[in-house]
Amino acid sequence: MLAEVLLMTCVVIVGSQWGDEGKGKVVDYFAGKADIVVRFSGGNNAGHTVVVKGKKYAFHLMPCGAVRGKQLIIGNGVVVDPKVLLEEIELLKKDDITPKLSISERAHVIFPYHRTLDEAEEQFKGKMKAGTTKRGIGPCYEDKAGRFGLRMCDIVNKEMLKEKIEHLFKLKEKQIQVYGGKFDFTKEQLIEEYAAYGAKLKSCVGDVNLSLNKAIDEGKKVLFEGTQGTMLDIDHGMYPVGTSCNVIAGAACTGAGVGPTKIDTVVGLAKAYVSRVGEGPLPTELLDETGEYLRKKGAEFGVTTGRPRRVGWLDMPALKYACRVNGINWLAITKLDVLAGLEKVKICTAYTIDKKVLEDIPPSCELLSRCKPVYKEMKGWNDFNAEEAVKNGYESLPQELRAYVSEITKLSNTPIYLISIGPGREETIIVASSHIFV
Ligand code: IMP
Repeated sequence: MLAEVLLMTCVVIVGSQWGDEGKGKVVDYFAGKADIVVRFSGGNNAGHTVVVKGKKYAFHLMPCGAVRGKQLIIGNGVVVDPKVLLEEIELLKKDDITPKLSISERAHVIFPYHRTLDEAEEQFKGKMKAGTTKRGIGPCYEDKAGRFGLRMCDIVNKEMLKEKIEHLFKLKEKQIQVYGGKFDFTKEQLIEEYAAYGAKLKSCVGDVNLSLNKAIDEGKKVLFEGTQGTMLDIDHGMYPVGTSCNVIAGAACTGAGVGPTKIDTVVGLAKAYVSRVGEGPLPTELLDETGEYLRKKGAEFGVTTGRPRRVGWLDMPALKYACRVNGINWLAITKLDVLAGLEKVKICTAYTIDKKVLEDIPPSCELLSRCKPVYKEMKGWNDFNAEEAVKNGYESLPQELRAYVSEITKLSNTPIYLISIGPGREETIIVASSHIFV
């Protein structure tokens, strides 16, 4: 019998915590080896940072592979604010990068009324608010599910745009009035503004699904760039304090139009501790000087909103859950340098609730907020020189750090592919002996 040769061509990268795991940096690393980078969910609520030779690029909608000059796709699962996207294209052009971007004609479009509604809905939700980024993401996905959203194919066709806005304007006005707000733009302004965006983006908009699947069949290496984090997923995250779409690995299929049989590998990103922006329970949250230390040292302030992030010890029940619902084959652990300098570090291995031990994350905010972490305490490590460590390899890193990394593998039952020990592109060490994207 002939031996079967398996080609690893489709890799999905997902956040396995509450977002902000360092996706920009790790996506940039894998993008260096990929042919195509695809965004498949979320919108400009995401903030992915790439640092190359000290220069910082912050992306919200554009796939991070832009810095590598790769083929880029914004899939149907993304909600596109065209103004933000055009600004990102202009910023890249200033750095002499012309992104090779294609956008799905099926991707939904964010309008100003979505932002107005995002703000208003949050105000009225009271205790149920998620602390959203107020970018209109939720209301845009609401319209998609309600089947009165406008898509990229509508804004590149002025007649279609006009017809749909004429039809929808009253409905949106009524919705906003319910919350006591009002439209600060006319129907005509909206049509002109969005027709202009459509005209500018028209050459990038099309049936990207066809070319993407063809590229996969030809053996091209495709990287699917996830957004947010598993704990923010609309189905599998902490409802209702997460985001408004699916962000787990499965969403790469629905958000780009690629069958699950095409996905070879899922890489889960986890920060060496946890962070969270917005509302909701965070069992390992550090409200003391250690929390302040991590926030300052790790620059834990939102890329999109600038809000200070809440921080806490690494939460293994949440990480194990993420490994399960995403089917993570490899983990990438980021920001291990930030934990350096602490005498002791802790890993939450389980929770206790009502005197019972719980090894898995409970399904609701109500239960999670009553969970108390059970910690394993480990020895901390001193600050180290990242450049030297990269040169001399993983074994040269402090023994305590390596023990911490081994503990994560043991507790999650998932191997570690790489570790990140600084924000720069080069501050990365591959731990695995096999390779993704050879
Ligand atoms: P939305 O996605 O703007 O609707 O916000 C919903 C929740 O998800 C809020 O708690 C946000 O702070 C959080 N969130 C959304 N995007 C991100 C992200 O990229 N990183 C971390 N948190 C996020």
